[in-house]
Amino acid sequence: VKYLEIDNLDDLAEAICSLRVRGAPAIGVAAALGAALASYQFEGRDTKDLIVHVEKACGVLGSTRPTAVNLFWAIDKIREVLEQEHLEVGPLRQKIIDCALKIAREDELINKKMGELGAELIKDGQNILTHCNAGSLATAYFGTALGVVRSAHLQGKKIHVYVDETRPLLQGARLTAWEMAQEGIPATLITDNMAGFLMAQGKIDLVIVGADRIAANGDVANKIGTYSLAVLADAHSIPFYVAAPISTIDFSLKDGSEIPIEERSREEVTHIGGVKIAADDVDVYNPAFDITPNKYITAIITERGIAKAPFSESLMNLAKEESQI
Ligand code: MRU
Repeated sequence: VKYLEIDNLDDLAEAICSLRVRGAPAIGVAAALGAALASYQFEGRDTKDLIVHVEKACGVLGSTRPTAVNLFWAIDKIREVLEQEHLEVGPLRQKIIDCALKIAREDELINKKMGELGAELIKDGQNILTHCNAGSLATAYFGTALGVVRSAHLQGKKIHVYVDETRPLLQGARLTAWEMAQEGIPATLITDNMAGFLMAQGKIDLVIVGADRIAANGDVANKIGTYSLAVLADAHSIPFYVAAPISTIDFSLKDGSEIPIEERSREEVTHIGGVKIAADDVDVYNPAFDITPNKYITAIITERGIAKAPFSESLMNLAKEESQI
């Protein structure tokens, strides 16, 4: 475990780009705190200059990663604060900092609520498959998909988690398997290409993953490999659940085809842990996320309730409900 203390915007942007901070909710929290940091370090006396300064920081943060909508959601929250042009520098700066801290604190509460609601879907004795990392390390604390798993475990249910290693960057092996060990939740690490065989063997009762962006119709962008799992789950009649906060839903996008998918460097595929495993001139394609069409999704767990098909209607109804957080 290594904690990074970041005290300037460039280092924060670099940390997000290089996945030192990763996971949709954690990226959102980091971006909000980055804007707060920029306002804290502003030395001028003119409100307009402070707004320009923080707006510039929002621009830098917003260009780090394109898929996780929580990043843009958090930046929009900061921009709403920046609209209060009538305030003096001091009070406006304080409002920006308060806004960022609220986003961070609420993320934990949201995850706990989501965990409580989602745990009802997990029965005693079940085997769960998860992909990538949607745990404490992807959020302020507790996690989205792993928050649901954690809640079921805290309720005393005897569960077991199969963890997809999640190539190319191995978030499952490096983060999820570690988180499960910290919590004392029984877990088994598998490589991504084993999931289908485990399902065929009857070893998986349900799949649960997080999300980086959900379109208005319930199509889900999540870590590359999620779509394959959803199709496999469908072929084996295994429920496929997605856990994500309302802030992960992008109602401005009709369906998953409109979600921007980040493409990352070729080295992530040609190397594992810094060791080269492919020839120098090999062609590489490295989309970091894929889209799971809503027809493969059994339910989407949010902090305001559980959405089911037809998702457009169900998600919109949940979004309209007043937040209990
Ligand atoms: O590239 P990452 O590690 O930031 O991607 C994160 C994911 O895709 C997670 O699986 C996820 O569910 C979103 S964060 C809870």
